Amino acid sequence: TVELDARAKEILRGNDRGGYTVPTHGLYPYQWNWDSVFSAWGFSTFDLPRAWVEIETLFASQKADGMVPHIIFHQVDPGYFPGPDVWQGGGEPPTSGISQPPVAAILARLMWEGDRDAGRAAITALYPKMVAWHRWWMEHRVVDGVAVVTHPWESGRDNCPDWDHGMAGVDGSNVGEYHRRDTGHVDADMRPKKIDYDRYLAIVYAGRSMGWDQARVLAEGPFLMTDPAVHFILLRAMDDLAAIGRDLGQDVAEVEGWAETLRAAVPDMWNPDLGAYDAYDLKSGQWANNLGTGAWLSYLAGVENAAMDARLTKAWDKVRYGIPSADPEGATFNPKRYWRGPSWAVMNALIALGFQRMGHEAWDARLRRETADMIRIGGFAEYHDPLDGSPCGGANFSWTAAIWLTWAG
Ligand code: DGY
Repeated sequence: TVELDARAKEILRGNDRGGYTVPTHGLYPYQWNWDSVFSAWGFSTFDLPRAWVEIETLFASQKADGMVPHIIFHQVDPGYFPGPDVWQGGGEPPTSGISQPPVAAILARLMWEGDRDAGRAAITALYPKMVAWHRWWMEHRVVDGVAVVTHPWESGRDNCPDWDHGMAGVDGSNVGEYHRRDTGHVDADMRPKKIDYDRYLAIVYAGRSMGWDQARVLAEGPFLMTDPAVHFILLRAMDDLAAIGRDLGQDVAEVEGWAETLRAAVPDMWNPDLGAYDAYDLKSGQWANNLGTGAWLSYLAGVENAAMDARLTKAWDKVRYGIPSADPEGATFNPKRYWRGPSWAVMNALIALGFQRMGHEAWDARLRRETADMIRIGGFAEYHDPLDGSPCGGANFSWTAAIWLTWAG
């Protein structure tokens, strides 16, 4: 454990590019929004000032409309595609044109409450920026009270089965020739397929052609699905932001109102046939019918549904190392392909925060033990095979190192 602690710190230090941390060398050479916040949480265990700098750097690229972009292209790296020339998201440094799950307030609150004196200046400056980002979500990514994503990449769970219906409706036939770089870094069997990449690009091109006018992206973009995972993360983040605001003596009525809106819409995400919270394709009017991460994250937002607990734990019992990112009994389950089955230390940690909130101590202990075992077996991989713990995706991954330091180890 002492050795793994040292290794985890070494990974974070090694991925530190000065003010921001890359997810891993090679595969992901820029600053990714939620990766970065998890890295900050990891740094907070041994270098708290550096942790706050990470989040400050992220918010320095916040757009005028409040959006915090999903990628910030600090220095051009030909090893990654699609880069800034493809995205054309504007900004200096340039950015992508979409966002990513808003975990900042959740983890910033933990950092702040861990050491109020050390964090006061940072959190005071960050608070209005986080409020502006959450307002952006409410204005541009909430439909009838439910959080939506306009690109699978915005969900952070790129190719999970949640998006299959929405992706089927995207025409990827006109994206032309391009050269993927991800499969030059890791095994193609662990990455999304070409048909998925064609469609990812088609959605980027559509947003770009709208100049990333987010009202248009929402209304006219080719992909629009509700995302229970983002919904529950956003709802939890609202509660945490309100708590931070109260601590700082701010008027938090607006933030509490957003939380109320999101909480009131939770029943609308219930898919009665699945018996769980589910993603829904607003274009084709179909449920995803996937028992997945979205349902598991409900606890994070203080939502519990007795009818769902037994279904979820049954799926969990089918694997050995953490929460599978797709239903192990689902037709498309694949234990190694990106978000279609593997276990992600970061998701396990978020889900565990939910277990802690709801008093599920035994589940929390089990998930922590399984995640630690998985890291002992497979190292600090991007994600792991939930059946045997073997490493998948990129190696020396910042967020897995961070989760070891903050929770699993
Ligand atoms: C990728 O390139 O796979 C990223 O997940 C996009 O954010």
